[in-house]
Amino acid sequence: MRKEILSMLRETGGYVSGQELCERLQVSRTAVWKVISQLKEEGYGIEAVKNRGYHLVSAPDVMTEEEIGSHLRTEKMGQSCVCFEETDSTNTRAKQLAEEGMPHGTLVCAERQTVGKGRRGKGWSSPPGEAIYMSVLLRPQILPAHASMLTLVMGLAAAQACNEILREILEDEAPAVQIKWPNDLVLKERKIAGILTELSTEVDYINHIVVGIGINVNTEQFPEEIAGTAISLYQAAGRKFSRAKLTARCMERLEACYETFLKTEDLSLLQEDYGRLLVNTGKGVRVMEPGNEYVGTALGINDRGELLVRREDGSVTAVYAGEVSVRGVYGYV
Ligand code: BTN
Repeated sequence: MRKEILSMLRETGGYVSGQELCERLQVSRTAVWKVISQLKEEGYGIEAVKNRGYHLVSAPDVMTEEEIGSHLRTEKMGQSCVCFEETDSTNTRAKQLAEEGMPHGTLVCAERQTVGKGRRGKGWSSPPGEAIYMSVLLRPQILPAHASMLTLVMGLAAAQACNEILREILEDEAPAVQIKWPNDLVLKERKIAGILTELSTEVDYINHIVVGIGINVNTEQFPEEIAGTAISLYQAAGRKFSRAKLTARCMERLEACYETFLKTEDLSLLQEDYGRLLVNTGKGVRVMEPGNEYVGTALGINDRGELLVRREDGSVTAVYAGEVSVRGVYGYV
């Protein structure tokens, strides 16, 4: 009921009468009043005005199921949602929940991770209260070889969601979040998010995929080791954002991009949107595959999500987004 009350207060933007809440939720006025009091205690600013009703003035920046859910307009993505105050890693939790039979689209979030995982066995620093740590459980009926494209689908969805909320505040002045193929999002040439995709497969089919993303939202200061290459939305825009709202937007964009992806089981219908946000295009890149390293110029992606790189001898290589890492020749981007 808490989520429904918050959703109704958000839907109207204005006042909702106690009567309306009672009728829609089929509960007593006292029950509504109790929930409203509880929410206030938890930091929600809710005004009650005689003859007009309740009005949501402010909300705390918390990653709870009801706060995310009350922003969420999706059919599947995030409708099943599990939030932890603290967990080891949302990817690890999501894999476990997958084994327990949780449905496609399940969203797992945490306020804080104790063993946040980055790519290539690295850790992902996950302090509380400032960033999004989330993983989405997908159960696609696609070939295992096509799974890495879902990292790109998540990257596109999350970049679009960040740009939407930046534009709501800063309009045309908003700096654009871009995609650094295949796993990172960047803003002003610094890393704002990283994606870690983990697969459970049989020889020819996928049991499930967990796509995890960490987004630097309200971080004021990064640890010294990454301060030169990392950035948060707060640092770029000069104001803080609701992490729950951004999470919900990511789910909405992911639902749309995922549906589009499934139509062709490749990126042909998303390629143009992806290309518009791809930061690598026209830039020098160093491609690091296991046992093979070379430089070239990135041209864009093809419909399988491979990065097209023109090498120094003029030949064009399509780089598969599996175990590869791409760096800028002169820096991170
Ligand atoms: C990277 O850039 O190295 C990928 C970082 C991925 C971090 C996210 S945070 C949520 C999810 N849970 C994890 O343990 N890792 C991913």
